[in-house]
Amino acid sequence: MKFFIDTANLDEIKEAKEFGVLDGVTTNPSLMAKSGVKGKDNIFKHYKEICDIVQADVSAEVIATDFDGIVREGEELAAIDEHIVVKVPMIRDGVKAIKYFTDNGIRTNCTLVFSAGQAILAAKAGAAYVSPFIGRLDDISFEGMDLIAQIVDIYQTFDFTTEVLAASIRSPLHIVQAAETGADVATCPLNAILGLLKHPLTDIGLEKFLNDAKKLD
Ligand code: E4P
Repeated sequence: MKFFIDTANLDEIKEAKEFGVLDGVTTNPSLMAKSGVKGKDNIFKHYKEICDIVQADVSAEVIATDFDGIVREGEELAAIDEHIVVKVPMIRDGVKAIKYFTDNGIRTNCTLVFSAGQAILAAKAGAAYVSPFIGRLDDISFEGMDLIAQIVDIYQTFDFTTEVLAASIRSPLHIVQAAETGADVATCPLNAILGLLKHPLTDIGLEKFLNDAKKLD
């Protein structure tokens, strides 16, 4: 399973890259706003910086919601760097735009997916990634991970090549469950990735090894 980091914060992206397990980045308008970047030129420069750091897939989301606007914005975003994947919302014009981008060699990530039916549409339109939002489903008492399992199953049945990108991940446990369920990618906050490191027996064991190592001098 690939690890993407779900942030637009350059320091966090650099830290994840240096940690050595990073396969890509996802952003969204909320994350861009949180990073404090403003204005189209600065936002485009920011995406370029992210691409230069990771040298791997970077999802950049369109703001337009009509077909012509999505296509115009997506083409501009895709021109920033070869690693840009255009993130398009799961709406009628979004699906139409994903099909247009697919036919014109631009890779897409279909976002805001909350049902298997939506995931089928994304795959039919040729999205490179589909992003079911696990945490937001859990927030309203639906089992987000069940949706991942359902989509993985359907995509396998029909050999869809769209990768299942588990999004809205909130914890290390979500990452492990996404892996168990067969998600191709998990996009996670940095603290969820680093949380995977933690086990008290590792800490206790290391302390004992280091103490015993002192006896070896
Ligand atoms: C990533 O592609 C999504 O936009 C993101 O994971 C949403 O996460 P949230 O539900 O924590 O905002």
